[in-house]
Amino acid sequence: MTEREVPLEPVRPGGLGALLERRRSTRDFAPRPLSLALLSLVLRAAQGRTGDGRRTCPSAHALYPLAVTAVAGDVDGLPAGVYRYGAERDALTLVSEGDHRRRVSDTTLADRDWLPRAPVLLLISGDLEAAGRHFADQPPQGRRGERYVWLEAGHAGQNVYLQAAEAGLGAVLVAGFDDERLLGLAPAVVPPGHHPLGLIGVGHPADRRE
Ligand SMILES: Cc1cc2nc3c(=O)[nH]c(=O)nc-3n(C[C@H](O)[C@H](O)[C@H](O)COP(=O)(O)O)c2cc1C
Repeated sequence: MTEREVPLEPVRPGGLGALLERRRSTRDFAPRPLSLALLSLVLRAAQGRTGDGRRTCPSAHALYPLAVTAVAGDVDGLPAGVYRYGAERDALTLVSEGDHRRRVSDTTLADRDWLPRAPVLLLISGDLEAAGRHFADQPPQGRRGERYVWLEAGHAGQNVYLQAAEAGLGAVLVAGFDDERLLGLAPAVVPPGHHPLGLIGVGHPADRRE
């Protein structure tokens, strides 16, 4: 049988397709603070609670093993610090005072020079062990749960990218970091019992004028 290529229909302009088209990784951030309102948007995109009690990201068995930590350095109305995002209360809880962006960026493999210029870094982390236990009966035994957590981090990352694109912000997923160094930071940035899965720098892109 000969292969036959079926051309797809032309894309309709607008909607999610336009956002997907615009989404790009941004590594050049303007020296402008992020508003708390815009930070709220990207946090909810990452892991917000929806009206039915679920989340903006899909999760295997609705287990929700992810946590989002905001390493805020330049956010209007939010003192610099490390904050945990609580989806249930849609609120941030201070974990450590001060600007920890450089300390966190120093654990990356190649991005320490520019990443601290993002007004906020979102750390996506997950409880791999809890997910491993929960899905212990699914093959491959003991590993399926961990896979689900990594997939969910991808969903959260893409949600942040798309929300950033919609709001005129820039975002970049940085997953190249030294796990042990990030886990070893004192005061701690990664939640207890969690594994770091990805960092997302978020801010106004350098070339954007209002
Ligand atoms: C799993 C994953 C890991 C990534 N890690 C890094 C990283 O460590 N540093 C970085 O600058 N960009 C990182 N990126 C962003 C990619 O470099 C970027 O998506 C790619 O160049 C395509 O560009 P675009 O996102 O603008 O379409 C990562 C992307 C993915 C999906």
